[in-house]
Amino acid sequence: MVCLGNICRSPLAQGILESKLKSTQLDVYVDSAGTGSWHVGHKPDVRSIDIAKKNDIDISNQKARQFNTYDFNEFDEIFVMDSSNYRDVTRLASSEIEINKIKLLLNEILPSSQASVPDPYYGGENGFKNVFELIDKACDKIVDRLIKNV
Ligand code: 4NP
Repeated sequence: MVCLGNICRSPLAQGILESKLKSTQLDVYVDSAGTGSWHVGHKPDVRSIDIAKKNDIDISNQKARQFNTYDFNEFDEIFVMDSSNYRDVTRLASSEIEINKIKLLLNEILPSSQASVPDPYYGGENGFKNVFELIDKACDKIVDRLIKNV
């Protein structure tokens, strides 16, 4: 799960997907990263921690890291939150195989829409609730797909 700072959207996406996978037999490793380095080592934004907590998910132990080219080897799928993340991660790819791993998260619920999870950083609490709901729906689709192995 990749966003810009790895403190608002992608930590939530990691926590939500991990929590959904817990109730399945699937053994899937999930991580998150940011394309930028400003927040490396920081905990998630308190507003992300709070909205996750309200939904019984604890993301308070996560630490931001920056996306790097090794991630293309480590992960089968790389979900980005917005089109700017898509551009930044695509720039780091060195093959068609790597490029094909990069997917806009909201295309899971709105196929081919190229829709973005809005950046809630400069907004209020409502932005975080909206982001949570969008990511939650997209993660349901990912888990369905993984269960069906498609
Ligand atoms: P995120 O949100 O990409 O969802 O983690 C942001 C966090 C920090 C900044 C921008 C977006 N920032 O400009 O520091």
